[in-house]
Amino acid sequence: MRLLSALNLKTLSSLLAIVSLTNAAAEEDAIASPDSAVVKLTQETFSKYINENPLVLAEFFAPWCGHCKALGPNFAKAADILDSKNIQLAQIDCTEEQELCQEHGIRGYPTLKVFRGESDPSDYEGPRSADGIVDYMIKQSLPPVSLLEETSDIDDFISEASAAVIVETGSKQNETFYKLSALHRDEFSFVQTSNKDYTKKYGKDKFLVFLPDTKDPVIYKGDESYENLVDWLSVETKPLFGELDGSTYQSYMTSNLPLAYLFYNTPEEREEWKSTIEKIAKEQRGKINFVGLDASKYGRHAENLNMDQDFPLFVIHDISSNKKFGFPQDNSLSIKTLPKFIQNYSSGKLEPKVKSEEIPTKQETSVLKIVGKTHDQIVKDETKDVLVKYYAPWCGHCKRLAPIYEELADKFQSSSEAKDKVIIANVDATLNDVDVDISGYPTLILYPANDKSNPIVHQGGRDLESLASFIKESGSFKVDIDSLEADVIPVKESEETAASKETDITHDEL
Ligand SMILES: *[C@@H]1O[C@H](CO)[C@@H](O)[C@H](O)[C@H]1NC(C)=O
Ligand SMILES: *[C@@H]1O[C@H](CO)[C@@H](O)[C@H](O)[C@H]1NC(C)=O
Repeated sequence: MRLLSALNLKTLSSLLAIVSLTNAAAEEDAIASPDSAVVKLTQETFSKYINENPLVLAEFFAPWCGHCKALGPNFAKAADILDSKNIQLAQIDCTEEQELCQEHGIRGYPTLKVFRGESDPSDYEGPRSADGIVDYMIKQSLPPVSLLEETSDIDDFISEASAAVIVETGSKQNETFYKLSALHRDEFSFVQTSNKDYTKKYGKDKFLVFLPDTKDPVIYKGDESYENLVDWLSVETKPLFGELDGSTYQSYMTSNLPLAYLFYNTPEEREEWKSTIEKIAKEQRGKINFVGLDASKYGRHAENLNMDQDFPLFVIHDISSNKKFGFPQDNSLSIKTLPKFIQNYSSGKLEPKVKSEEIPTKQETSVLKIVGKTHDQIVKDETKDVLVKYYAPWCGHCKRLAPIYEELADKFQSSSEAKDKVIIANVDATLNDVDVDISGYPTLILYPANDKSNPIVHQGGRDLESLASFIKESGSFKVDIDSLEADVIPVKESEETAASKETDITHDEL
């Protein structure tokens, strides 16, 4: 998954968190009470405990984190209920167990993982209420595949399911079927049967997908390759016109098909659009996924898609290229005009809406300011090693780095030789669309001359020396700035610029 999508996911999940926080209890503590069934794990005890217990939900947390505090009481309550079912809940305090948390790649708090033994834990993707945790973990403890033989049992199972049910009529591809079920056990249900009614009607040894509220299943017609089956499932398990929320976001984002959104104001409005969108979605099956999004809850997500919060709105997000194609927000969106828009999209006639600041007419410092519209052209300049700092105005590490980064740029600008070979640039990634993996701010990436398909992410220190040696070691020109004499007289900033910069800094810190 592209990390930019991950950022969007963060935004959506923080919107979701706001919704759930309003329901949170008053007395909250991230650390479960010693009286509860929650087990506290450390570097010393972790492996042994995880290997001795068949199913463990582990929470990696920090005592100061707000979402951890909200989760705390729910986690403890769920632990008490699940203890009798041989399902354990454990906590790891990452402020004390830094190494352990690092080993597990913990990047945010709380992170919840489901362990069945030590290798390959899966991410917990259920709700964070006590009941929600209990339901989710009980489902995790059941066999992923239900073996049903009575026609009425299968019929009932399918009609009661709230998400897709995948049926194998036979067991010829048993191993594949179990592998699929392990992959998707959180989202869908899996049934295996040799029931005669089903084999007669749909054939023997077939894979079928039943969607809620539809009569006939979709039957798999492809070959036996596991990858093709995974792709097929990713398409056919989605409703024609699905709903985007915290529980479905991940599966739409990882499907890699473009995602078309209708942001609607009310359920009635969604209903008005339904048959039109379903009709289009049927034609576009396997090419575009279609979802509704409740604008009264997640309206702010519009801005991630470069749209104004003016609803209803329609926008297609091509996830693999991170390009966004919005229906113009000039009141011309209607059930009649939508099909033509989709046609235009499919025939490649639409221009993506790129979020970008204006292209600067003059550069204020030695650091070259990049914007969305100029990013690709500048970083792909084959004649230059280009170092780019991707930052957010609110980020503290970025502010600390800023003066050092400017000093670095000054050094390169003051030598005519270095200046011709190296560009030191930055871009405010919150105001500009860039098709780059950004996992945190600041992210520093060097695009070496004559090797633009191999950008290198800076991992070292953020002091002047480390940055200079990064350019020397990773750049194609191996420019060693310390061995070059300054021979360009730096242009003095005008007093006006300096003054306005100072104001900016004060403003930032407010
Ligand atoms: C299918 O595979 C599962 C998991 O490996 C196993 O438990 C089950 O017995 C197998 N069923 C058949 C019919 O081979
Ligand atoms: C589709 O494209 C045509 C021709 O390029 C254009 O005239 C029309 O306005 C577009 N319609 C929509 C809804 O995008």
